[in-house]
Amino acid sequence: MLKGKSLIEPSDFTLEEIDQILSLGNDIKNFPSKYTKACEGKLLATLFYEPSTRTKFSFESAMLRLGGNVIGFSDANTSSVSKGETLSDTLKTIECYADIAVMRHPKEGAPKLASKAIEMPLINAGDGGHQHPTQTLTDLLTIKSLKNDLNNLTIGLCGDLKFGRTVHSLVKTMARYENIKFVFISPEELKIPKYIKEELKNQELFETRNLEDVIDDLDILYMTRVQKERFFNEEDYLRLKDSYILDKQKIKNAKEDLLIMHPLPRVNEIHTNVDDDKRAVYFYQAKCGMYVRMALIMKLLGVDLNA
Ligand code: CP
Repeated sequence: MLKGKSLIEPSDFTLEEIDQILSLGNDIKNFPSKYTKACEGKLLATLFYEPSTRTKFSFESAMLRLGGNVIGFSDANTSSVSKGETLSDTLKTIECYADIAVMRHPKEGAPKLASKAIEMPLINAGDGGHQHPTQTLTDLLTIKSLKNDLNNLTIGLCGDLKFGRTVHSLVKTMARYENIKFVFISPEELKIPKYIKEELKNQELFETRNLEDVIDDLDILYMTRVQKERFFNEEDYLRLKDSYILDKQKIKNAKEDLLIMHPLPRVNEIHTNVDDDKRAVYFYQAKCGMYVRMALIMKLLGVDLNA
């Protein structure tokens, strides 16, 4: 039962619950007109303490397309946070007005702490370099709708695997499916954290610096941006930022049914000459983000059109 739950990390939901959200997201994608009044009278609060395009706009458009309404801020300094209000007091106040809230925060663990102060469902929209569970739901809907399966896949994750929260959430979740092989492609300094690797006891995994050596084996290539905002010094960022630039030449021998994914925003890591390749699905992925967030909002609010 998902009604009333918060989503702080992907492991908060069972695979069965994730599957329910993906099935509903797929139905909304195929029959959007069925859902235009699903959340009439409900209010979503969006609390973004860090910048966002996709997550914020997809949540807002999700609620509006369900017939609900949205309040919120995209700059915490326009709220009483600037006067020193605590996270917990802000959330307790927002709970007086809204039915469900979404929060992005630069500090790891902030959404978890906030969720303990309130009764209403809270969704983690990304906390520092830790987790981004709704990006994972987005990624899963994208993969399932194009591959028909979330099992038996070789997934290459390339770029900033150290700070990339989308990678952390996706790896932890894909590891719960059957016969998943992970290929981690990164510079030494941006390798996947040990605490994530330690959870991959039953999965085959391979680490390399060289994308060209492994690209032919992949069913999915998940490119990521080097996370400038998480670096302690600019010199390191400048040295590492262009470690990988995917272009037409590099995907020449990749599988015909490879999915090239990216949570976006991209900086330089995928050349725009890849965008018109049928294997490039990152803008479709951004669209799936709205449908799966519509499904998530409905489930957490306990809205069931078939009840
Ligand atoms: N993928 C993602 O989280 O994008 P935004 O930072 O634009 O929300």
